[in-house]
Amino acid sequence: MNQQFAKDVLNGLNADPKTLPSKYFYDKKGDSLFQEIMALEEYYLTRSEYEVFKTNKGALTKTFLSDVEKFRLIEFGAGDGYKTKVLLNHFLQENVEFEYLPIDISGNVLNQLESDLKRELPDLKVRPIQDDYFHALEKIENGSTRSVVLFLGSNIGNFRHNKAIEFLTELHARLKPNDLLLIGFDLKKDPKTILNAYNDDKGVTRAFNINLLHRINNELDANFDTSKFVHYPVYNPLTGTTKSFLVSTTAQTVEIMDAAINFDAWEAIHTEVSQKYSLKDIKRLAEESQFSVVRNFFDTRNYFVDSVWQKS
Ligand SMILES: C[S@@+](CC[C@H](N)C(=O)[O-])C[C@H]1O[C@@H](n2cnc3c(N)ncnc32)[C@H](O)[C@@H]1O
Repeated sequence: MNQQFAKDVLNGLNADPKTLPSKYFYDKKGDSLFQEIMALEEYYLTRSEYEVFKTNKGALTKTFLSDVEKFRLIEFGAGDGYKTKVLLNHFLQENVEFEYLPIDISGNVLNQLESDLKRELPDLKVRPIQDDYFHALEKIENGSTRSVVLFLGSNIGNFRHNKAIEFLTELHARLKPNDLLLIGFDLKKDPKTILNAYNDDKGVTRAFNINLLHRINNELDANFDTSKFVHYPVYNPLTGTTKSFLVSTTAQTVEIMDAAINFDAWEAIHTEVSQKYSLKDIKRLAEESQFSVVRNFFDTRNYFVDSVWQKS
């Protein structure tokens, strides 16, 4: 049994309000549901960032190679690498000297990525690291080669503001002055468009959220009846925060190992945050963590921005 998972679940469900960390969405089923989400009409994020990379792969290569001849590409929360492959392909075609270090908490998705890359891009040098972002940070030795750190797909938005600052500040301490950071930010837009991305018609985001309860049942000997929880996302345009909840439709007690967790009727578990940003928010976040924005790359609809940062 994963002791940390057990501890985090019990702490979260004994808290008031109840919470579960979103990093636990990604077991084998969660990975595959997330890949379905990326293909959904409503989930504009993946298509927007894919377009940014397709259109700007030449300019991004130039930026990454400014003043240096090679780099290490370190990606936090790489997932299946769908969008990153646009860049990897381009770098190989252009004979760029680089090594790719994908980091992910999900061993399943990393194995899938590694075997896909072996097959599709056999010349690529890949060194996967399975770990939580914060532990992975400690594992990365920073030699003299430029590091280009990728944090794509709005992964940063899954952090609350304080946690984002903590992560970026730790990253800052480990980077050299000429290293680069490329972060994907989902931009503020029509609130309906944003909310729909977390509440698709086919119910895939619902299944993704509910899967967290299945995972707890499977791995922590629990007895959630998932038919007694509903998926409920909200978007607050004042704060730019999307939150997803699982709401208990009835008063019930759930057993997890030896613990009994009581739910009141309509009590919610908060499972995910997805922060949306304005360009001002992004500049402020960079400044608060002692980075400065080098250049922003947008899609044609201005739905999404990939922002390149350097240490101030
Ligand atoms: C929303 S998906 C995005 C995947 C990819 N970056 C993209 O843009 O398509 C988030 C990925 O980050 C990983 N992840 C989430 N929390 C993590 C954490 N705390 N440490 C390491 N990886 C994490 C998940 O396993 C998942 O593959």
